[in-house]
Amino acid sequence: MHAQLIDGNALAQKIRAEVAGRTQALKARGVEPSLAIILVGEDPASQVYTRHKANDSTQTGLKATLETYPADLPEAALLDRIRALNEDPAVHGILVQLPLPKHMDASKVIEAIAPAKDVDGFHVASAGALLTGQRGFWPCTPYGCMKMLESIGYDLRGKHAVVIGRSNIVGKPMALMLLQKDATVTICHSRTRDLKALTLQADVIVAAVGKRNVLTADMVKPGAVVIDVGMNRNDEGKLCGDVDFAGVKEVAGWITPVPGGVGPMTRAMLLVNTLEAAERAAG
Ligand code: GUN
Repeated sequence: MHAQLIDGNALAQKIRAEVAGRTQALKARGVEPSLAIILVGEDPASQVYTRHKANDSTQTGLKATLETYPADLPEAALLDRIRALNEDPAVHGILVQLPLPKHMDASKVIEAIAPAKDVDGFHVASAGALLTGQRGFWPCTPYGCMKMLESIGYDLRGKHAVVIGRSNIVGKPMALMLLQKDATVTICHSRTRDLKALTLQADVIVAAVGKRNVLTADMVKPGAVVIDVGMNRNDEGKLCGDVDFAGVKEVAGWITPVPGGVGPMTRAMLLVNTLEAAERAAG
């Protein structure tokens, strides 16, 4: 193996320990950081994710409540519940698990969350804050990717970063965060012509498409940093990313594994955002 591994599990553990320390300090001031998680419907993956988020929180010393509602909950009832949580000073973070049932307008639901409690960083106010460099909440997955780059002491100034994927949750905010650190950023997507010509120029590649083998060894400049956001299953049903790990690790300088890379970092950054929301509220 040529590339060095960026261990998301180890870094997430370190971050959780820091969050636990700051949480204790805040509790000593009489403030208990608290996250409200809302799950509508019975999607099995969402049930697992929300349970993880709640358990991560409580294990780190934060309070978490998981509210589950039937799939036929009227949208107005969900909006009412969000408004009540917005008004509740004991709740610092609100997370509505996506996807929502089809009869709900996800944008409308997300925009109902008070920006000061938008620990997912999905609200337009959070997106606008990131765009303009103001204080807000960064979406947890690209935020976690930035922490991974920071952990290896990587200086992004003047480097060429190529982001593959343009979702609102990962690709677009990822590009803005890299830009904020003075990288030259290219965003690639399904309509990009000659992806390989662009990735071969990249010092940093973030793959966030949701498709196996989007990035193969022949597409990577020797020594490049490769961050794999993908979460897919291979033919044997094993978890794998967007990157052909076996091939790319022979060329890259640094690489994140799947599992054990970006995934645990996403979960850790939710704790960071929730604590941050509580600290801001406490003044
Ligand atoms: N569904 C899949 N990932 C996420 C996430 O990070 N936040 C929310 N709210 N829903 C999701």
